[in-house]
Amino acid sequence: MAKAFDFDLVIIGAGPGGYTAAIRAAQLGMKVACVEKDPKLGGTCLRVGCIPSKTLLETTEKFVTARDRFSRIGIKCDNVAMDLPVLMARKDKVVDTLATGIAGLFKKNKVERIVGTATFTGAKTIKVTSVTGEKSISAEKFLIATGSVPIELPNLKFDGKKIISSDQAIALDRVPEKMVVIGAGAIGLELSSVWSRLGAKVTVLEIYRTTLPGADEEMSKLMEKTLREQGITFHFVSQATGIKEDKTGLKVRFAAKDAKPGSAAETELPADVVLVAVGRKAYTGELNLAAAGVQTDSRGRITINHAFQTTAADIFAIGDVVAGPMLAHKAEEEGVAAVELMAGKAGHVDYNTIPLVVYTAPELAWVGKTQEELTTQGVKFRVGKFRFTANARAMCMDEAHGVVKILADEYSDRVLGVHILGPQASSLIAEAVIAMAMGASSEDIARTCHAHPSLPEAIREAALAVDGRMINS
Ligand code: NAI
Repeated sequence: MAKAFDFDLVIIGAGPGGYTAAIRAAQLGMKVACVEKDPKLGGTCLRVGCIPSKTLLETTEKFVTARDRFSRIGIKCDNVAMDLPVLMARKDKVVDTLATGIAGLFKKNKVERIVGTATFTGAKTIKVTSVTGEKSISAEKFLIATGSVPIELPNLKFDGKKIISSDQAIALDRVPEKMVVIGAGAIGLELSSVWSRLGAKVTVLEIYRTTLPGADEEMSKLMEKTLREQGITFHFVSQATGIKEDKTGLKVRFAAKDAKPGSAAETELPADVVLVAVGRKAYTGELNLAAAGVQTDSRGRITINHAFQTTAADIFAIGDVVAGPMLAHKAEEEGVAAVELMAGKAGHVDYNTIPLVVYTAPELAWVGKTQEELTTQGVKFRVGKFRFTANARAMCMDEAHGVVKILADEYSDRVLGVHILGPQASSLIAEAVIAMAMGASSEDIARTCHAHPSLPEAIREAALAVDGRMINS
């Protein structure tokens, strides 16, 4: 008997959430297609987000290390210089290689790739529009994973050249002399680091009173101090009120958060390029959700229940297009859980143990609660801290900067939050994530044997510090 639908599941969007869900659904025996409008698979994360920015961050960090710090550790190399076209070409190659890899994974797992833009024509059908025309596709279930786009400020509209989003800030063909960055979130800080290392004079305007609202405040302040030492200028509790261009160039006007536009409190900052990095918003563009009965909330995010099901029973949604942190790994977890639940399995996402990382130098990574959150919630906790200046491996690496901070419940000793500013924090945080996922206490971490000399010893020492019994400090 002919099947009622073309596919068991059609996934819309091939970012980390969508493509991971597609592979998992195929593993579970579903006939799966993934519709993606961009010719390259991988979504924002791979094409214009995490991967290109991390390539730029890794390389520029190597550059400044060689230029500024090699001589003090005995490596002689003169005239260290950055070749921007080579850097950009390699970044593009990394992206292309990984995108080709996803295409290969689709083939291997028999996921049908459909290039085009999906629009719902009903709860069980979409129309896919591409350069080759239009076709109608039916599926028993749909999973929406269309991600997010940068938020535009009304008084600083993107022009893609001088007023740019992260999409363009990863691909500038020359180093701007002066760059103004609006927003000291993850994107603002990472891309400020890249262009400052390459020689731009970077000034960051942030509406909040520290970098990274939502991070542990002690860590945010340490991050600010470190980035100031690296040459980045910050203005907090400040917002851009407008922009003007005259024959002397582009100028961003800014003022204290509550000042009126045009008031005497306004200051001007000259800029060659203005990066607006004030957050991202859910992207449902051409989906025509109304035709399928899918509803959104006041912020345009698709409304879902605990099983990722939208207001239309057979349409599911995950990742940046639904509520929660806009992170590739959160989308991946949700994609896997959503299709496992569709297949009658026990898919689950532990939202308390999703790590957050800012890839500055040093990196900041954290998982669980901040000190401010615990205080607000009235939770009694103990704090253990250990500085990388006392970690032998960090010293050997000439990277002895930063701190590990562990927050543990005062009565049960269960680890409630771990915050790391230091070398390779993005990797170190994995130990904390596993510990918290397993419900570990700080004593559990403290009594676990850690290799010596190694960076994770700093986590163990911070766990010992919760009970006031550090060895190396
Ligand atoms: P964000 O929400 O992390 O930070 C935006 C910043 O802009 C905030 O500090 C906010 O207070 C500030 N802001 C908002 N309006 C402003 C205004 N008018 N003037 C001045 N400052 C203003 O957003 P971001 O950095 O754009 O990143 C978007 C999303 O992408 C986030 O969810 C982020 O977590 C994610 N992302 C994650 C990365 C990572 O995990 N390493 C890297 C890049 C992005």
